Amino acid sequence: MNYRHAFHAGNVGDVLKHVVLLELLHALHRKPNPVHLLDTHAGLGIYDLASDEAQRGGEYRLGVGAVLADPAAGRMLPRYLAALQALNPELAPGGAGLQRYPGSPWLLKQSLREGDRLTLCELHPQDAETLKKNIGRDPRVAVHHRDGFAALKALLPPSPRRGLALIDPAYEAKDEFTVLTKAVLAGLQRWPVGQFAIWYPIKEQKTVDAWKVDLAKQVQAETIAVELTIRAAKEARQMNGSGLLLINPPWQIDQTLRPMLDFMKSRLVREAGGGVRIQTLVKAG
Ligand SMILES: C[S@@+](CC[C@H](N)C(=O)[O-])C[C@H]1O[C@@H](n2cnc3c(N)ncnc32)[C@H](O)[C@@H]1O
Repeated sequence: MNYRHAFHAGNVGDVLKHVVLLELLHALHRKPNPVHLLDTHAGLGIYDLASDEAQRGGEYRLGVGAVLADPAAGRMLPRYLAALQALNPELAPGGAGLQRYPGSPWLLKQSLREGDRLTLCELHPQDAETLKKNIGRDPRVAVHHRDGFAALKALLPPSPRRGLALIDPAYEAKDEFTVLTKAVLAGLQRWPVGQFAIWYPIKEQKTVDAWKVDLAKQVQAETIAVELTIRAAKEARQMNGSGLLLINPPWQIDQTLRPMLDFMKSRLVREAGGGVRIQTLVKAG
């Protein structure tokens, strides 16, 4: 396990993932019934942007930094901005004062109401320990040092039965898309009413499109993909963008996300050929 998210926290992929995640949570919480949230690949929960890791690549500057540089960010992405402000009380318009970046466990935990539950899985032993420290003790939250793919079999269906699984693998292994597909299908079989949000990298668009079509063929639930590419996704050796596959998405989430995606496009796309899209893979039954 070589992947460490500390090098990438707050990058373009994180911005897309966390903006969409916050909208999914908002939609889930419209009903008062309690929910269970599962984060299969949790990471550290909070990232120090002054750390050597974050500074070395500086990826956050082209992600969250580029978003915050626009005075319209608070209006266009209000929930994302509120989360950044909650973790960075010194945050000023334009982005000065941004010191810490919230990972998905922190965002999920912030959303919990009484009766809600959160399960976090992280396989890297050191990161699992840091995650425990960063997230703190809360009787509603369980942190597991375990394989997140196996958790989709072992821990589902959850209690309460309404809820969301975020699946955000590191994509280090050659067969990770295959392992992922199997685990998602197993999870969905056990939890057909669950919402699933699966983050994926886009190197070559045609390869990732083939994976989506293959997965969608095996899913009998509404499925959409939300994508942001920073340049034309033709070169397989580099990261050109990312997407989120949403299974059982909230009603009309596409309409909520469209203006947010257009705003992110205006801040994050770097070269001709990049852009945003929402693609329907399986229509609602
Ligand atoms: C992309 S990062 C997660 C970022 C996090 N979800 C967020 O948005 O803040 C992927 C994490 O998965 C962990 N990991 C890798 N393989 C895993 C597995 N099989 N099960 C659980 N965690 C794993 C890595 O150590 C890394 O921390």
